[in-house]
Amino acid sequence: MCSAPTIKENMAPSQVVEGGPRHVAIIMDGNGRWATMRGRPRLFGHRAGAKRVREIVEACPDFGVEYLTIFAFSTENWKRTQVEVAGLMSLFRRYISKETRSLNAFGARVRFIGDRVRLDDKLIKLMGELEDATASNTRVHLTIALNYGGRDEVARATQRLAHDVASGKLDPNCVDEETLPKYLDTYVLPDPDLVIRTSGEARISNFLLWQSAYAEYEFIDTLWPDFTKAEFGNLCAAYGVRDRRFGAVKT
Ligand code: FPP
Repeated sequence: MCSAPTIKENMAPSQVVEGGPRHVAIIMDGNGRWATMRGRPRLFGHRAGAKRVREIVEACPDFGVEYLTIFAFSTENWKRTQVEVAGLMSLFRRYISKETRSLNAFGARVRFIGDRVRLDDKLIKLMGELEDATASNTRVHLTIALNYGGRDEVARATQRLAHDVASGKLDPNCVDEETLPKYLDTYVLPDPDLVIRTSGEARISNFLLWQSAYAEYEFIDTLWPDFTKAEFGNLCAAYGVRDRRFGAVKT
């Protein structure tokens, strides 16, 4: 008999609005260009980008979005200059310290995905505290991808799965499409229905590779610091009229 590890966290009851996306994932791109257009350093754009996050999180219940996953820092972003990387890490630390109260008051449950080992101790501690502080909230599930890469996630998951096989906890003949996702960072989340990328680039940059197999994509020209609740709402509404067949034929 095949048995996979059990999911440890309770999922929130569904509040899905008919036809809208339940889970939206966003690649928040364009901060650097937004700053450069204003003759300012790239970190100015990242700070403006961080300010956008709250409005979009708080808009989620209005559009029936229960899960919002945002790409804050990729496993490839370490290749940026030391100044930009250090500035982003400092921004994440400040964001968490500053936003904990309002995220909690709003009822957001915050989770982080990605590999924490390369992050600094102070940041790791703040991330854990924010997750703990918001653990009983269910209004919106905000997942922040930090030092996240889809391939890295699948590799880490495979390593954990291999350990379970080696220790006899998992029968290798039972490894299938249902088993592997239980080892992913996103094991408690539904797959994204809609993936939005701002800034006019049409690529997915290693984001939620496994999870987005059947997601709808929206690549929009708006730079992330200019992204508004209204545009978010329009994209959610546009999703609602898409014909999703998941490989089947409508009869
Ligand atoms: C991509 O824009 C953006 C990032 C690598 C960082 C994303 C971070 C934020 C939006 C701010 C912080 C978020 C949180 C949750 C506090 P880019 O720099 O690649 O823009 P470019 O393509 O114009 O250069």
